Amino acid sequence: MKIKSLELINFRNYEKLKIKFGEKWNILVGENGAGKTNILEALYYSVTTKSFRTSKLDNLVKNSEKEFYLNLEFLDDDIEILSSIENIYKKTENYKKAQKNIKLNKSNIRLLELLGIIPFIFFVPDDILVIKGDGENRRKLFDFILYQIFPNYKFLFNRYFNVLKKRNLLLKEIKQKNINVPYLESWDENLIDLNVKIFQKRCELNNILNEKLSDEKNILFFDKKIKVQYISIFLKQNLNVENYNELYDFFKEELNKNYEKDKILGFTSKGIHRDDWQFFYNEKDIKFFGSQGEMRLFILLIKIILSDVIFEYLRKRPILIFDDIFSELDIFNTKILIDACDKHNLQIFITTVDIDKLKINNLFQNAILNIFNVKNGSIF
Ligand SMILES: Nc1ncnc2c1ncn2[C@@H]1O[C@H](COP(=O)(O)OP(=O)(O)OP(=O)(O)O)[C@@H](O)[C@H]1O
Ligand SMILES: [Mg+2]
Repeated sequence: MKIKSLELINFRNYEKLKIKFGEKWNILVGENGAGKTNILEALYYSVTTKSFRTSKLDNLVKNSEKEFYLNLEFLDDDIEILSSIENIYKKTENYKKAQKNIKLNKSNIRLLELLGIIPFIFFVPDDILVIKGDGENRRKLFDFILYQIFPNYKFLFNRYFNVLKKRNLLLKEIKQKNINVPYLESWDENLIDLNVKIFQKRCELNNILNEKLSDEKNILFFDKKIKVQYISIFLKQNLNVENYNELYDFFKEELNKNYEKDKILGFTSKGIHRDDWQFFYNEKDIKFFGSQGEMRLFILLIKIILSDVIFEYLRKRPILIFDDIFSELDIFNTKILIDACDKHNLQIFITTVDIDKLKINNLFQNAILNIFNVKNGSIF
């Protein structure tokens, strides 16, 4: 995928702006508060109708304005026809009822139709939580990739959490009222089925990711051994992960075994909502042994490899949206990262306050750079 241009009207600190992007490196340079991250946020909104830094989307509308407009023009990998995604966001009295209008090539589309048109991977400084934080951060990362590569994953996922919520409500009621319900059959059949299906998809992603990470070329290139270990109740047994029935029976037994405990707890203690991942950097758990910079590089490299996974499934190269990736990386690791991006032939959008550090050390060598100087909501 190649983003050709982005037009912004009344978005954050931009009144009206159109930027034409280059095919490879697009580097937004400027002082703190200039509006660099706002451009990445506009890109992100264009392909998701969300922000990566706030759930209050009214904040995205320029102060004292009522709506913003974004127009993203792009080319698919093989098709030389320019397409456009236009977004209008209108504030209303009640922010929960704000109006979102999305158009693909001038025709209205729904949000579900938008997702997946432009696959992307993003990195924000808070991503360090993927390593340091709790399991939810890691599940989010991998589920986000799974949404993109398997069209029905989001559907399975939403249904799972619906069923889980209902089952938990019932467990809570049983606990509070001390009533005797022998078995939650109707919820459980659904829950078991969804557990198995989601587990199988996560397993598939985990396998393909590790295959790529253990590729000799990548090990040499990264100068480190990187491994990701998926942790799931299903993997503790010697089960055939491709055998649906075997997994189904195993999990049914687990739910049964834990039913008394779940009634006391008032929630479901086993299931894919408790899955996790462990990350190894030169065979050590990076959470406990890695430095801040190593953790950053680790997540970035995982994300670049994940972009390869996305390409393998969709035959579309995702765009990379990286906010402030070079802070905390030394010259050596910055070079590894730049070369990894270059090698994967991706279009990249990054921000930095200090382009000189990169230029003086000649880190980009022959890479094709497009540099945008950002100042007070304008670009030079
Ligand atoms: N709705 C809005 N209307 C007008 N200005 C806004 C709005 N929301 C944010 N801003 C302004 O945008 C600027 C922040 O922009 P942004 O986060 O893109 O900065 P940045 O260039 O990424 O800075 P840093 O290097 O510190 O990350 C701030 O000056 C902020 O006041
Ligand atoms: Mg910023």
